[in-house]
Amino acid sequence: MTERVQIRLKENGSIRVSGTVDIVAADGTVIETKSDFSLCRCGASKDKPWCDGSHKSCGFTAPEGIPS
Ligand code: FES
Repeated sequence: MTERVQIRLKENGSIRVSGTVDIVAADGTVIETKSDFSLCRCGASKDKPWCDGSHKSCGFTAPEGIPS
């Protein structure tokens, strides 16, 4: 049975992935298997696609979750 992964869009911040996922290249090759991390959605991270905390100082604002 596959474990469920949770993806949470945090208010004024990153996309939090809770659980273990494969990071896959365009050709389907697994680059890395990673657990419990944050993806940048502000565009300011110097370590994309990972969040490096830059959203806190760049003025990024976004609601929690997906706007309706
Ligand atoms: S969301 Fe954290 S650096 Fe972009």
